[in-house]
Amino acid sequence: MSADKRGMHGIWGSRWTFILAATGSAVGLGNIWKFPYITGENGGGAFVLMYLVCILVAGVPVMMAEVLLGRKGRMSPIHTMQAMARENKAPAFFSGIGWMGAVSGFFILSFYSVIAGWTLAYVGKMASGEFLGATAEVAKTSFGSLLSDPWMLLGLHTLFMLMTGFVIARGVKHGLEDSVRLLMPLLFLMLILLLGYSITTPGFTQGWNFLFTFDADKLTTESIVVALGHSFFTLSLGMGAIMAYGAYMPAQASLGKTILAVAFLDTLVALVAGLIIFPIVFSHGLEPASGPGLMFQTLPIAFGALPGGAFIGTVFFVLVVIAAWSSAISIAEPAVAWAVEKGFSRFRATFGVCFLAWLLGIGSVLSFNQWAEFKFLRGTFFDNLDFITANVMMPLGGVLIAIFVGWFMTRESVAAEARVKSPVLFNIWRFMVRYISPIAIFYIFIEGLS
Ligand code: PFF
Repeated sequence: MSADKRGMHGIWGSRWTFILAATGSAVGLGNIWKFPYITGENGGGAFVLMYLVCILVAGVPVMMAEVLLGRKGRMSPIHTMQAMARENKAPAFFSGIGWMGAVSGFFILSFYSVIAGWTLAYVGKMASGEFLGATAEVAKTSFGSLLSDPWMLLGLHTLFMLMTGFVIARGVKHGLEDSVRLLMPLLFLMLILLLGYSITTPGFTQGWNFLFTFDADKLTTESIVVALGHSFFTLSLGMGAIMAYGAYMPAQASLGKTILAVAFLDTLVALVAGLIIFPIVFSHGLEPASGPGLMFQTLPIAFGALPGGAFIGTVFFVLVVIAAWSSAISIAEPAVAWAVEKGFSRFRATFGVCFLAWLLGIGSVLSFNQWAEFKFLRGTFFDNLDFITANVMMPLGGVLIAIFVGWFMTRESVAAEARVKSPVLFNIWRFMVRYISPIAIFYIFIEGLS
């Protein structure tokens, strides 16, 4: 790819814009919906601890490597990786990292949009006052009836995909920058308000202990694989989204603090979401391992009990939609940027990517009703897409990125691009990327597949 493609998509206004956009990508359904439910399924505290270790040992180092590659390449991940592999004389398969990322992006976007559709439905449910004074039973039935209606789910999935396409077609910079700046702080505020409520529930201590009491017996190989996979999913790593955003980062910004800020905010949101959901679970005798429906069956109870709950609940789900929206855009960006570099208009590129992901999403829509009993490998069609992306493709992408930056790029070129001010921090990071992250990811990966 010729150098004239470099930088053709534009540059973020400042380092802060990158932080906002990357946080917008990282904070999404993964934090508020997925983290609590997989924690519930994997026994609580031991899983949370593994997840935190994975964020530090694999997530943060790989995130730095990915942003660094993006900024150096200044193109879509597919073209960036092709150029980087060539320039650094790495084996040709490293250039395939970008392609694998684009494929996993399609997979993720397809089911992400379906779940985001549920959150759209909950905006309406909340606004209608359906959950005022609701019992756990009412919340459960309401969720069950939503899932059993494939046409409703398809309509919501379509609506969310249209919303996503609308912003991507306008360009990420103008489409998203401003809204994220306003809405992310609002989301934080709502989370704090809900945390205030959950602290007053009788199940708070039990919820806290469930999240933070380490019980090594509960740790299984499967749960470690899920923790690693989730650390990649939640930070949007290993598939090019963060690399694409890195390509639009101002040249002079240092990567160290920037990346740590994004990872910190993302982790904080997940933990707070857990501290909101589990106390409600225990206070109402609900089941922590109830799977993907967990958030949708617990939060309505809280809103139903709060004064002004219908209004606050509506605002909250609007914010969850927005968090999902800003993530969905980043999932599609690598493929769209590639198509634009290939000469398609931004509109056509967006249409093509969103349409394919929408089509694939129908499989996930049906996984919750018509095809619910049709299980293979890891479960339903949706379960398999979720597993293969988060637990196989993203860690694989991550390990290859770490090996590439750690072993095929020279120390000098990496240092010049990273602009980390403290030499000690730089050395720690480089050591992690060369040894610790690849070995840890590889080990967990192989264990998980066996
Ligand atoms: N990080 C997002 C979340 O936690 O909801 C999900 C995600 C976004 C995954 C972007 C992958 C990606 F490229």
